[in-house]
Amino acid sequence: MIHHSKIASLRMQVKQWRQEGQTIAFVPTMGNLHAGHIELVSEARKRADRVLVSIFVNPIQFDKKADLDAYPQTLDNDKKKLALVGCDLVFTPSVDAIYPEGEATTRIEVPILGEMLEGKSRVGHFSGVSTIVNKLFNMVMPDIAIFGQKDFQQLMLVKTMVADLNMPIEIIGIPTVRESDGLAMSSRNGYLTKDERSIAALFQKQLQFIVSAIKGGNRDFLALQSKVAIKLNKAGFKSDYIEVRRVKDLQIASVEDTDLVLLGAVWLGKARLLDNISFAVH
Ligand code: PAF
Repeated sequence: MIHHSKIASLRMQVKQWRQEGQTIAFVPTMGNLHAGHIELVSEARKRADRVLVSIFVNPIQFDKKADLDAYPQTLDNDKKKLALVGCDLVFTPSVDAIYPEGEATTRIEVPILGEMLEGKSRVGHFSGVSTIVNKLFNMVMPDIAIFGQKDFQQLMLVKTMVADLNMPIEIIGIPTVRESDGLAMSSRNGYLTKDERSIAALFQKQLQFIVSAIKGGNRDFLALQSKVAIKLNKAGFKSDYIEVRRVKDLQIASVEDTDLVLLGAVWLGKARLLDNISFAVH
């Protein structure tokens, strides 16, 4: 596996692959790789001649400096995992290389989609995500890029940006990888204490409860959302949002909508847990 941290050397390698007519699949990450990331890289391996993974903890997508400072960095381990799964190149640029002028950089904004749910709770987060993904796309120039469905809103945001800016990149979403008790894998699960971890899967179970109730004919979304938020809060979580939305644009769902996604964000101790379930009703 090749390792580059300089943009110029990355570009030279990408240029060579392109000249040879090879296709490139790209998986952007912030490192601290778990089985969910590895699934994205395996999928990339199946879909292109070359697999490129970036590891970059993007400072401009963090709304709290403490969260950025605490973000786990495990490069040696990450590289071992990537080599095993068949990654061809890992790109680990420095913050100075990516943002030579600091945070006063040109920004990409995806209106509406970037301002709701996660974007409302973490102001500036999605501007940071769309800006770095755009920059990385311009460096890597992939044919396809792979993202996890766990960050459902992020996946939609990237798809929207790519369509709006006419970028010739296919964006692929891969189902969430879960622990055996149903908890969605996330780099942030490492913040959970043993006691918190023992109740964490209740979040996913309560989302499933809402989906079953809706599929069973209950269309009182607000009542279901608040019942579950109260239940989770009583169990020790701090609910941020639990909302039934329309899949196509993440607007608030009405009783006539049939293609839905339930999105949730809760705090459990120091960990912010995100999860979602897409489903259809008839
Ligand atoms: O999902 C992530 O890990 C990050 O938001 C991403 C897409 C790598 C951008 O920094």
